[in-house]
Amino acid sequence: MASVPFDQLDGEIWFNGAFVPWKDAKIHVLTHGLHYASAVFEGERAYGGRVFKLTEHNQRLHTSAQILGFKVPYSVAELDAATIELLKRQGFSDAYVRPIAWRGSEMMGVSAQSNRINVAIAIWQWGSYFNPAEKLKGIRLDIAEYRRPDPKTAPCASKAAGLYMICTISKHAAEAKGYADAMMLDYRGQVAEATGANIFFVKDGVIHTPTPDCFLNGITRQTVIELAKRRGIEVIERAIMPEELADFSECFLTGSAAEVTPVSEIGPHKFTPATISETLMNDYIKEVCPAAAAAAE
Ligand SMILES: Cc1ncc(COP(=O)(O)O)c(C=O)c1O
Repeated sequence: MASVPFDQLDGEIWFNGAFVPWKDAKIHVLTHGLHYASAVFEGERAYGGRVFKLTEHNQRLHTSAQILGFKVPYSVAELDAATIELLKRQGFSDAYVRPIAWRGSEMMGVSAQSNRINVAIAIWQWGSYFNPAEKLKGIRLDIAEYRRPDPKTAPCASKAAGLYMICTISKHAAEAKGYADAMMLDYRGQVAEATGANIFFVKDGVIHTPTPDCFLNGITRQTVIELAKRRGIEVIERAIMPEELADFSECFLTGSAAEVTPVSEIGPHKFTPATISETLMNDYIKEVCPAAAAAAE
């Protein structure tokens, strides 16, 4: 990806209902969303000019905002239409889509009852780097110090900006040690997910994945479970303890950005990406973009 800072890319950003030049899509430093993390966002990918599960993402944006106590002032249909129009105006085929909604500047304190809810959508170019051989080598994960909080402690079903504070800290710590990412445990000490993706394991041809009761039930996670079931592969959602990691042969992550990414190591545990990771990696690409998959074959 280009090393140009993100605030200096070209094109337009959809900002509170209008298409504005990219460099003019600015907010004031006294913005509630910046100081108090009163912001929710989405991460989506367009393949071949079509955003995968666009409506599901915009529905989740609405739900995330509701959980934080505010209403996105544009309907899901309006957000869908704005995204489709912006993708056309940007002229991208394969791209990343980032909608965000946040509380503005009218009040600056913990309470922000009358703050305007702002919404923006930005789209930047991001090719689907589908190189099966490269991906199948797998990535290495550290085990994070921070844990996903108890649902009684944080609104974990919301894709809320504040929940990413511990993800950035954990990912930075992992990268400092040479890892690609970190696996996070939850408040009970069970395996939860990576810092921006859900996690799956394989043992004896069966897939095991943690029950999403304190982290995001990813749209990709749900898609991959459906793809596995279509193949007749059994998927068990359950509590997984870190001690069990030694028993699994394969491991992979799922997410809109990560797609299906095989994992080769988590701390002291080694995995060998094999048939199930490869099958689901390929099935996922076929699902999101049949043309790209055909070109790669
Ligand atoms: C913390 C976290 N978990 C899981 C996911 C996967 O969600 P999805 O598949 O909906 O992109 C993401 C990405 O959005 C994430 O940031």
